[in-house]
Amino acid sequence: MKKINIAIDGHSSCGKSTIAKQLAQHFAYVYIDTGAMYRAVCLYCLQESIMLDGLIDEERLLRKLNQIEVSFNYSRDTNASETYLNGVNVDQDIRGLWVSENVSKVSKIKVVREKMVAIQQAIGEDKGVVMDGRDIGTVVFPDAELKLFVTASLEERARRRHAELEGVSLEDVIKNLGDRDFDDSTRVENPLKQAVDAIVIDNTNLSREEQFALILKHCQDAMQ
Ligand code: DC
Repeated sequence: MKKINIAIDGHSSCGKSTIAKQLAQHFAYVYIDTGAMYRAVCLYCLQESIMLDGLIDEERLLRKLNQIEVSFNYSRDTNASETYLNGVNVDQDIRGLWVSENVSKVSKIKVVREKMVAIQQAIGEDKGVVMDGRDIGTVVFPDAELKLFVTASLEERARRRHAELEGVSLEDVIKNLGDRDFDDSTRVENPLKQAVDAIVIDNTNLSREEQFALILKHCQDAMQ
């Protein structure tokens, strides 16, 4: 079977990372969560006060950009690859509300995207990578052998997300996801968009097992 790159794009909270992790484990491929990279840059901006009250000093960010190093290291404890910012494990910090509420302001900046895309492309040079994000099949790996565009209804995504959270109403989760969908799809730089040759996986009514079996079949076809 041929070694390939698998690009997974889709809206927030539609299960992209679950699929990507399952596939990486199944094929012993490298898994890269590109959202974590934008989150790490956002954390840097917040820590260094480059972003204050939701406003980014883009000139300062540009000057500091070459001092931001984002990398991944495999952890035996969690059996997963964890995100590092300038050598410090930030895997927990980047999932917090502080970052979640501000990251889309960072991920829409052109120079940030250029830097992250270059790193992602270098990681994929030798193939054997599963990468999830918003622009993987369109910009990062336009020649990926397999592109998946994962989706589910807004209500179903919100219901799943709501079940993982405490103290937040379902209405608030629906609103937050709807806003993120809008931000992701309408930004100027590399908006979320389905690649013309992507296979759409709508998992609104699929179990994890059904979805994985369906995707494995597509992988096997692409690896021949
Ligand atoms: O998937 P996530 O919620 O962790 O993504 C965090 C942010 O980064 C979100 O604003 C979408 C953005 N993102 C992006 O613009 N391009 C990617 N390839 C991955 C994520």
